[in-house]
Amino acid sequence: MTTRVLIAFYSRGGVTEALAKAVAEGAKAEGAEVRLRRAREFVGEDVMKKAPGWLEGAQRMNAIYEAPTEADAEWADAIVFGTPTRFGSMTAELKAYIDSLGGLWFKGALVGKAGSAFASTSTLHGGNEMTITALYAPMAHLGLILVPTGYADPAMFKAGTPYGASSVSGTNSAPPSADDLEVARFQGKRVARVAAALKAAR
Ligand SMILES: Cc1cc2nc3c(=O)[nH]c(=O)nc-3n(C[C@H](O)[C@H](O)[C@H](O)COP(=O)(O)O)c2cc1C
Repeated sequence: MTTRVLIAFYSRGGVTEALAKAVAEGAKAEGAEVRLRRAREFVGEDVMKKAPGWLEGAQRMNAIYEAPTEADAEWADAIVFGTPTRFGSMTAELKAYIDSLGGLWFKGALVGKAGSAFASTSTLHGGNEMTITALYAPMAHLGLILVPTGYADPAMFKAGTPYGASSVSGTNSAPPSADDLEVARFQGKRVARVAAALKAAR
């Protein structure tokens, strides 16, 4: 039976989106079916227009990716969260999606699925690891089996973190490097593999 992977991410400028796409490539390379979903803003266009490119980026991505739903989480065998860092932690947009999963938490509907996370910052020590490990907390509450990247692949010795894929975009919103993307693809492969094993054991 095909393994199903939900990648629920938020991205304002496209950097985390690029990581999400690489995670999807990795999962697909393992034969998984993937749903890529972008969490939506809940501020108005007036607020978005104050930051150059925010509204345009959101419109571009929203035309490609549906918003993640409760049904997506229920469908999935693995749930991967991705977010840019906001003051050392996850974005409110992704957190709002996670908080919408309370009904599934109550039913224990996500218990035993695989879970993993990735992040992007603008500065080198600006919070990638903290953001990923902050995502581990709600993942634990939901009963997901955490799947970190570890140093489980040669790619991990060049980029990323042992907690999950990452990138440092700098002041000019640079896209993830080839090494960052290799880690993200590895993460997608690893989480799909673990999800398949967990599914077979259920
Ligand atoms: C309100 C706000 C807070 C941010 N906080 C941090 C931070 O704590 N550390 C950091 O390195 N970058 C921070 N950033 C920068 C983004 O995390 C970074 O540019 C990221 O790569 C953007 O990803 P995206 O293109 O997917 O939106 C912040 C950006 C915004 C708008």
